Amino acid sequence: MRILDALRAATETLERAGIDDPLADAEILTWHTADIDRLTAFLDNPEISPQILARIRRLTTRRAKGEPVQYIVGQVEFCGLKISVGKGVLIPRPETELLVEEAVKAVIRQPASLPARILDLCTGSGCIALALAKEFPTAKVIGTDISQKALRYAKKNASANNITNVTFMKGSLFAPIKRGTTFDLITANPPYILSCEIPGLQTEVRDWEPHGALDGGNDGIDFYREIFNHAGSCLKPAGSLFMELGYGQAKAVAEIASRSGFEIIAVIRDLAGIQRILHAAPAGPS
Ligand SMILES: C[S@@+](CC[C@H](N)C(=O)[O-])C[C@H]1O[C@@H](n2cnc3c(N)ncnc32)[C@H](O)[C@@H]1O
Repeated sequence: MRILDALRAATETLERAGIDDPLADAEILTWHTADIDRLTAFLDNPEISPQILARIRRLTTRRAKGEPVQYIVGQVEFCGLKISVGKGVLIPRPETELLVEEAVKAVIRQPASLPARILDLCTGSGCIALALAKEFPTAKVIGTDISQKALRYAKKNASANNITNVTFMKGSLFAPIKRGTTFDLITANPPYILSCEIPGLQTEVRDWEPHGALDGGNDGIDFYREIFNHAGSCLKPAGSLFMELGYGQAKAVAEIASRSGFEIIAVIRDLAGIQRILHAAPAGPS
């Protein structure tokens, strides 16, 4: 069989299973399995072996049952890094790249003060911590997460990307950080989905991704309260805090920030126009 026939069959299987974008997922699975790039596949349409065809069919069946395509291929690209993912760790989302971009831009606007210490809370696969560690090779980066499974991925991702200026620690938010340690930059993409919304999520998310990475409590903003409660004592006076926000949370989180002695530097919208990233800094003496 030729590869484009295998692609067509995989697309039909995913279409019948009601997958949102069957062609896109079938392409990812087919090119990944045959280890071929899209252009070559379309230009040469090579023959594939029965073994490759059987593997494409197996992976397509997994996708048809709802498993996220990123877990099936085991990898996702994030800020130019290859990040391994699988059951037990959240799949990094494209909007989180915006957090990294904005944090980097803010630092570059003040080149005299490259960050020496960076803390990434709720680090998961380590995607944010690793992207920042790569961008600022002289910085010492720490990533914390409560999930041992997630941290296993984070450590694997550090060594796969040859990034050595990052340490991953297990524990709740700031708990693993030695008392008195302060940071130039703190980042976080905490769980922010309302508990009551979890049952209504897409099946790929609800049935496959860890609920501990999603559930932000009754109003979705439990983690922001907790983070702002402690961030003041862990951030240097000239430091910055960048956090990802869920839909419609900007106002409530900005209020928590202000009550906790922070000023809002910016709220940045993502490509869909959603207020997605909060940039806050310790308020100066008034
Ligand atoms: C939304 S995910 C973000 C993962 C990663 N930073 C990213 O952007 O893809 C939230 C992460 O917070 C972690 N988490 C949940 N409760 C936590 C806590 N109390 N302390 C630290 N991390 C926690 C979860 O295990 C999960 O990895």
